[in-house]
Amino acid sequence: MAFGHGTHLCLGQALARVELRIALETLFRRMSGLRLAVAEEDLVHTADKIVYGLRSLPVTW
Ligand code: HEM
Repeated sequence: MAFGHGTHLCLGQALARVELRIALETLFRRMSGLRLAVAEEDLVHTADKIVYGLRSLPVTW
């Protein structure tokens, strides 16, 4: 769903998946203590923009 569907399905999704796998694996390897700094239920989701997401993602390590 993140890469759209139909005629306008993301042409870069294969590249994006590889980049995300490398970036996230590197992040969690280098910062193995990375975790949420707030309770999960306190995260505020946004639906008022083109891209769905979180208002903020406080973390600690
Ligand atoms: C996490 C990264 C990415 C996400 C979440 C993403 C998401 C999307 C989405 C949702 C669409 C469809 C937009 C629509 O329906 O109008 C799209 C289209 C497109 N994306 Fe991506 N994209 C990402 C990375 C990339 C990369 C790395 C490239 C190129 C190197 C790329 C190239 C394109 C192109 C050319 C289209 C237009 C396809 C068309 O209209 O025929 N995207 N992308």
